[in-house]
Amino acid sequence: MWLLEASIEGFRNLIPSRLVLSPTVNVFHGGNGQGKSNLLEALNYPALGRSYRGARDDDMVAAGAAQAHVAVSCRTDNGDHILFECGMEKGGPGRLRIDGEPVRRRADLVGRMATVVFEPQSVQLAAGAPELRRSFADQSLSVLDQAYFRRLMNCHRALRQKAALLRDARRAGASPSRVRAEAEIWNREIAREAAALCESRATWARELDPRAAAIYAEMDPGSACLKFVYLPSLEACRRGLAGEDLAQEILSELDYIGPHEVRRGRPLAGPHLDDFQLLLGGIGLRGYGSRGEARSAALALKLAHGELIFAQRRVRPILIFDDVFSELDKARVRRLQQECAARHQLLIATARPDDVAGWKPDGLRTWRVEGGRLEELP
Ligand SMILES: Nc1ncnc2c1ncn2[C@@H]1O[C@H](COP(=O)(O)OP(=O)(O)OP(=O)(O)O)[C@@H](O)[C@H]1O
Ligand SMILES: [Mg+2]
Repeated sequence: MWLLEASIEGFRNLIPSRLVLSPTVNVFHGGNGQGKSNLLEALNYPALGRSYRGARDDDMVAAGAAQAHVAVSCRTDNGDHILFECGMEKGGPGRLRIDGEPVRRRADLVGRMATVVFEPQSVQLAAGAPELRRSFADQSLSVLDQAYFRRLMNCHRALRQKAALLRDARRAGASPSRVRAEAEIWNREIAREAAALCESRATWARELDPRAAAIYAEMDPGSACLKFVYLPSLEACRRGLAGEDLAQEILSELDYIGPHEVRRGRPLAGPHLDDFQLLLGGIGLRGYGSRGEARSAALALKLAHGELIFAQRRVRPILIFDDVFSELDKARVRRLQQECAARHQLLIATARPDDVAGWKPDGLRTWRVEGGRLEELP
């Protein structure tokens, strides 16, 4: 799919603007702090119904303004048009519409606009905390499968309830057998949702793995092989079980660790503690990889997610690159840009003209971003 037009008002430092985009490559140049990332954040807002930088709606409304508006029209791979309208309000709830229809639940929005965002933080996918990989998995799986998002929300809700129960019981010194009996209700729900979530995560990692390896090998021919594996926190998920059998086994496991959970006052196992690992030549990139390797591996993983969207939904996601090319050598960058541009619409923000110098793909459009103002360059 691709972005056709956008209009932005009251969003961070951006001067109200209307933008007609190229279906191929769009480049936003500008010095540090001029508004490039703000622009990409606004354009990607409809994909998640929130900021990809994790900002709150409040922070995105321009200083001194009461609200912000972002409207984005897209063309889908089968030729339909979709209009996304997003309103953010200081201190109020956000509003979202698709083709004029209000969107009441985020589950109905997630995945409608398919994008893959690569930003400076994304390099942490390889080397950073497990939470970042989990959240990448959850976002990716939610785009691929709406049922996943719903299950995830259910599981999180049950986990929060169980955590509150364990915490309060520990403070109050409640009788362990009573606490365990109460936790059982939540464990049943967690086991049912966790079985499905963990199966989805395992399948997803297996499908992503060869794709990421192939992309990495293309970027760095002759390098060691990249691997991506799932590390579930629940013992039961490592035994190759599925469906009802897996849910039963998870329930027994949660029951078995029950006394420890009561003593510690918090849930000690579940999908909320899962991790994934990226390995290069069999060695974990976390702690060992160079920054360039970590960046290429993270990039390969994100692009593999883009390929998976196409394989499963026949949608070519829009690729959004916020300042990704620093720390990659020139040959690697150009190969990557050409590969991506051949199949996807690209939005690229960069503070270093060098990153795209001499590259003139068909349909290229270029803007300068300065003090929040967008000016298209001839
Ligand atoms: N709510 C807001 N209202 C007004 N200005 C804001 C708001 N939020 C952020 N800004 C301003 O936006 C600017 C940062 O913009 P942005 O992050 O898009 O920069 P950038 O062009 O991507 O820079 P870099 O090259 O350093 O990544 C900062 O000057 C910041 O003060
Ligand atoms: Mg930026």
